[in-house]
Amino acid sequence: MKKIIAVDGPAGAGKSTVSKICAARLGYTYIDTGAMYRAVALKVLQSGKNLDENLLKDIEIRLDAFGKVFLDGRDVTKEIRTPEVSRGASDVAKFGFVRKKLTELQRDMAKSGKVIMDGRDIGTQVLPNADLKIFLTASVDERARRRFEELKSKNFAADLEQIKKEITLRDKQDSEREIAPLAQAPDAILIDSTNMTIEEVVLEILRLAK
Ligand code: DC
Repeated sequence: MKKIIAVDGPAGAGKSTVSKICAARLGYTYIDTGAMYRAVALKVLQSGKNLDENLLKDIEIRLDAFGKVFLDGRDVTKEIRTPEVSRGASDVAKFGFVRKKLTELQRDMAKSGKVIMDGRDIGTQVLPNADLKIFLTASVDERARRRFEELKSKNFAADLEQIKKEITLRDKQDSEREIAPLAQAPDAILIDSTNMTIEEVVLEILRLAK
């Protein structure tokens, strides 16, 4: 069984949904690195300060076993999911000192093995020696549609065209940044989930993990 699994891909491809399920079935720890960039963005937004190394010096980001995210000891699980924080996360992710800090934390979290970690640069930068690398994608229309349905099911107001615009912008920014851009590692396996169910993607990853 592969001990370290890296899952990368663009926004809304279903990385966290399928990674969480795979982790539960394998008895592995799931690590959501996007949540860590989101926590940094929230810290910047709430502090009213400029993002610099000082602001990150004693930042404390913790992911618990139940998927909760803590920033400096406070539960921010819900707060980090707003569109403002999504944009902010993509913005802070451009800075080398932010990536360096979070990459160190992420490598440390993966140290004991039996992890499935998702993000944008896990297979290329964070865990280049991962036992299995997946690049999970889907068409932008399908990714926007899924996000739209998810918001609707939670009774949130949602505009499909607006969601599509935001996803496209974030993909562009994440793929075009200079440091550790969103990219498929040469040894990653591509899964296009446009016409697949969640269960089909999960089963494919579990098959590859064997
Ligand atoms: O996976 P997500 O949508 O929660 O990620 C939010 C943002 O964080 C994403 O737009 C880019 C950034 N990110 C990154 O640069 N590297 C990662 N490993 C994970 C996320």
